[in-house]
Amino acid sequence: MTEQSANLKIEDKAVDLTVRSGTIGPDVIDIGALYKHTGKFTYDPGFTSTASCESKITYIDGDEGVLLHRGYPIEQLAEKGDFLEVCYLLLYGELPTAAQKKDFDHRVTHHTMVHEQMSKFFSGYRRDAHPMAVMVGTVGALSAFYHDSTDITDPHQRMVASLRMIAKMPTIAAMAYKYHIGQPFVYPKNNLDYAANFLHMCFAVPCEDYAVNPVLARAMDRIFILHADHEQNASTSTVRLAGSSGANPFACIAAGIACLWGPAHGGANEAALNMLREIGTVDRIPEYIARAKDKNDPFRLMGFGHRVYKNYDPRAKIMQKTMYEVLEATGNAGDPLMQVALELEKIALSDEYFIEKKLYPNVDFYSGITLRALGFPTEMFTVLFALARTVGWIAQWNEMIEDPQQRIGRPRQLYTGAPKRDYVAVAKR
Ligand code: SDX
Repeated sequence: MTEQSANLKIEDKAVDLTVRSGTIGPDVIDIGALYKHTGKFTYDPGFTSTASCESKITYIDGDEGVLLHRGYPIEQLAEKGDFLEVCYLLLYGELPTAAQKKDFDHRVTHHTMVHEQMSKFFSGYRRDAHPMAVMVGTVGALSAFYHDSTDITDPHQRMVASLRMIAKMPTIAAMAYKYHIGQPFVYPKNNLDYAANFLHMCFAVPCEDYAVNPVLARAMDRIFILHADHEQNASTSTVRLAGSSGANPFACIAAGIACLWGPAHGGANEAALNMLREIGTVDRIPEYIARAKDKNDPFRLMGFGHRVYKNYDPRAKIMQKTMYEVLEATGNAGDPLMQVALELEKIALSDEYFIEKKLYPNVDFYSGITLRALGFPTEMFTVLFALARTVGWIAQWNEMIEDPQQRIGRPRQLYTGAPKRDYVAVAKR
């Protein structure tokens, strides 16, 4: 890692700041000593120019539309790998050998059941509760069950908690879905792979055998890969901040799920499909494009735009390809919402407003159409995002805990409130 310095002059003070270079990507200016030397803070709401940590896990080049996991391009991982292989890569930093993969798959498979008492939690929720509300509550409650993997100072316990989270999220997500639709829970089956097991837990019923369509299982697995990790996005930063206080991993993941729920973040896949439904037909697209451009209208094209990607989100291209495969395999090739989505993308990408603001489809734009064709209701879309992102959250959480520079995250502020003033008795107000 190379280092140079930047000199900052403020009033009568001058301070030398260290500039550090990473492997690839923008350099960073280390401002850790800024306040001590100048008595001033930096100010960056939304963290548009702020690196919160050093990481080796994921690299994004927003201008080029590049996404690498431990150096491997997302296109190659989605094409050639499977989700548990990507989980291993994110957690351990290298692609597994055949023996390592076999052992990892076995370990994950044998953690997929949840404590039987977990099923009692669900009966407390209304059936029409949003499944993300169920996920936040139920995943947070895992802390109450797995005391033997909450000591974050013990690397073995951290890895056990990591495997438990990756293994149990599909089971809990499927339970949230089954509870939501009033069907009995389906237990995991160890003879199915990760994605097929999830689809079986969601769509099998006790009354008859359910054979998982291998094309759909492969598509589900690839969708999980596309959502696995994404640098320091809002929910990952939430997990890191929660973890910096020493909170247990289950509580940190529950915090990440809560943050992901927002429509500006992981909730956009649900919002994007609802938007396509609202538009309904191709002839109504111009009306919505105009609304998206209208400063006085809060409406935004959901599934479009990104804080980092100022080019096409590479995941969106792979998701579009997966969409075609799933629509074909499920007999929905003529899905009218797909026509609306394709036409909306075409019109938006040729519109000056979107070109000037560099707004392209993101990972959420085509995922809704695909997930609906797989059989999931809209309200389950963000749950699937959370299921897949759990490995990214847990890998980043482990990296944060192991970082020697790690300390509790505690930002400061620009205070613009009232200056000091004395209390006034109510009779004199
Ligand atoms: C995810 O960070 C990650 O990595 C997230 C994620 C991951 O994998 O973890 O990639 C997953 O969250 C993808 C994003 C999903 N969200 C949506 O699709 C919601 C719609 N998109 C927008 O809300 C917005 O684009 C954000 C939230 C994604 C990004 O917001 P920014 O970076 O704060 O950008 P901005 O809001 O400042 O917008 C810049 C300009 C604004 O116009 P001006 O004020 O400069 O005139 O672009 C406009 C915005 O009004 N704009 C849009 C728009 N997105 C931005 N206008 C219309 N439609 C949109 N979708």
